[in-house]
Amino acid sequence: MSEYHIRLLREGDWPDVIAAEERAYAPSGLSEGGAALRSRHHASPSTCFVLEDADGFCGYLLALPYPLFHCPDLSRAESDGVERGSNLHAHDLVIAERARGRGLADRLLRHLEETGRAAGFRTLSLVAVRGSQVLWSRLGYRARPEIGLPASYGTEAVYMAKPLAPPSADTVPSPSRAEVG
Ligand SMILES: CC(C)(COP(=O)(O)OP(=O)(O)OC[C@H]1O[C@@H](n2cnc3c(N)ncnc32)[C@H](O)[C@@H]1OP(=O)(O)O)[C@@H](O)C(=O)NCCC(=O)NCCS
Repeated sequence: MSEYHIRLLREGDWPDVIAAEERAYAPSGLSEGGAALRSRHHASPSTCFVLEDADGFCGYLLALPYPLFHCPDLSRAESDGVERGSNLHAHDLVIAERARGRGLADRLLRHLEETGRAAGFRTLSLVAVRGSQVLWSRLGYRARPEIGLPASYGTEAVYMAKPLAPPSADTVPSPSRAEVG
């Protein structure tokens, strides 16, 4: 059995999730706070996960269906009635400091890919912040610097997406003029 375990996020996880998010993003002004985080989970509880080991919480991943080439605004909570669509957006991923550098971010994202594929999503997207674009490129995400992002992400963020179906059968479509920022 693996020493790490991925499971759905539960109510009792919020103190760990909120503390990890604040530690990861508050110094760079990117923390969205507990209410917004909870609203992303509320929009799609079946695509939000916690990773743990024998000592407990090791990290989390919040994902929700979101139209391709669009993303949540960090300064606003999710409103009810999120469209299902065919794109699954990995909104936020944090690995606890004690567990970094062991490939756990990859593991959580691969788990999300399997979940998304099984649920019939065709593409997976994320917004790379603070230079993490390199990391996600290795997993097959392609940068879309032409996509405009909400100001709440700062100036360094880049939208990225990858197809979920086998590459020969499916590709990420090109953005329309209206989606290019
Ligand atoms: C980014 C993060 C999720 C990576 O998690 P992780 O489990 O340590 O990642 P992995 O073990 O899979 O990969 C580690 C590699 O990523 C690199 N890396 C970590 N953060 C990075 C960043 N911001 N930019 C570029 N590379 C980064 C490490 O140097 C390491 O490289 P190596 O494999 O060549 O040694 C983790 O550092 C974290 O939670 N950071 C704070 C929150 C954050 O920035 N989340 C991403 C939002 S898009």
